[in-house]
Amino acid sequence: MNLTFLIISLVICLSFSAINANSYHENVCEKGSLAVYQIEIEGNWTEDNFPKNYPKFRPHAHFSKSFGISHSQHDYLFRMQEVVRPELENFCLRGDIEELHTQISKENIFDELIMPKLDDPSKKIESRFFVSSNHSLFSIVTKIVPSPDWIIGIDSLELCIDNKWVDEIRIEMQPIDCGVNSGFTFSSPIWDTIPRDEMTFITSHFPNNHASSFYYQNVTHLPPIASFRIHKIKEYIGVKDSSVKRIHQKYRRNTMKNPSRLANHDNSDCVVSKWSEWSACSKECGIGEKFRNRTIMRLEKSGGKACPHLIERSWCGSSRCESSSSSYFSW
Ligand SMILES: *[C@@H]1O[C@H](CO)[C@@H](O)[C@H](O)[C@H]1NC(C)=O
Ligand SMILES: *[C@@H]1O[C@H](CO)[C@@H](O)[C@H](O)[C@H]1NC(C)=O
Ligand SMILES: *[C@@H]1O[C@H](CO)[C@@H](O)[C@H](O)[C@H]1NC(C)=O
Ligand SMILES: *[C@@H]1O[C@H](CO)[C@@H](O)[C@H](O)[C@H]1NC(C)=O
Repeated sequence: MNLTFLIISLVICLSFSAINANSYHENVCEKGSLAVYQIEIEGNWTEDNFPKNYPKFRPHAHFSKSFGISHSQHDYLFRMQEVVRPELENFCLRGDIEELHTQISKENIFDELIMPKLDDPSKKIESRFFVSSNHSLFSIVTKIVPSPDWIIGIDSLELCIDNKWVDEIRIEMQPIDCGVNSGFTFSSPIWDTIPRDEMTFITSHFPNNHASSFYYQNVTHLPPIASFRIHKIKEYIGVKDSSVKRIHQKYRRNTMKNPSRLANHDNSDCVVSKWSEWSACSKECGIGEKFRNRTIMRLEKSGGKACPHLIERSWCGSSRCESSSSSYFSW
């Protein structure tokens, strides 16, 4: 129900990148492909949208630091209708990412993302993360502050669909109750839930209790409290396993060192090797295809020109057929 529910309440704008006529872009999230995504958290938690008990002081309404991972099917951050995983409890209660950062096994995680808190819950904040062919799922959590144990988040969003990296997706967020604290209002005192409840969505009528800060008798659907917009910035195709880590780290260093440089244009364009030799033609007789490729020598620095396509396809053919009856090449 987790993702299905989200998808129903989503505004999905899926579209796929246009295929460059010269390059061979099939199966792009198969083995050896990487993509960089930008994520934007757009806050929508205003007093107009949520007038009841709107927290104004100590602390005022805001969103905590966010913690995200790109990962394989063997991991996740949370599952709706399941008890919260222990590493997430402190995040739900206090917005503390320490345990998420240190205690979640890194085995099935490709990239980790920590975003600063969003102090004005009607503004935006953005960051970037990497996915790879083997780790094409994305999960993220953000705490609603103040609140007993309420968060917003995405669980295991698949970014490789029909073998292509999704271009853009926007997901509207609804508050989630982690089930570790039984308070009904933003500023209830700590009231431990033992045993833990399952994680559930909070709606205008659930929990069905007039005291709940999100309970609005005359409202059928709460407005989204925030939206996550995720869009593809770049993809790398035909990357060898051994280069994945290098590209990843280099990219991180470049963007982390000075994020504000992202907007500038310094002249450090992507450098690629020369084209390889063309492969042999796929057909000895008749019309086939041949390929050549090149590799990334140096990634662009922030603002530099992105890497061009790395694989090129061309038609080829041969008249060296066993029977000379081929009509294609009867010169
Ligand atoms: C909800 O609707 C009822 C009846 O339609 C009305 O009496 C009440 O004032 C409304 N409550 C709010 C908070 O708007
Ligand atoms: C904020 O809520 C309004 C409805 O009140 C909705 O139309 C808008 O799309 C929401 N914005 C975001 C960023 O979710
Ligand atoms: C690149 O080309 C070389 C030589 O043709 C080939 O061995 C290699 O498999 C190619 N790599 C990709 C990703 O197509
Ligand atoms: C991706 O998965 C394949 C097969 O499961 C494995 O052989 C390969 O080493 C993995 N690549 C990376 C970068 O983990």
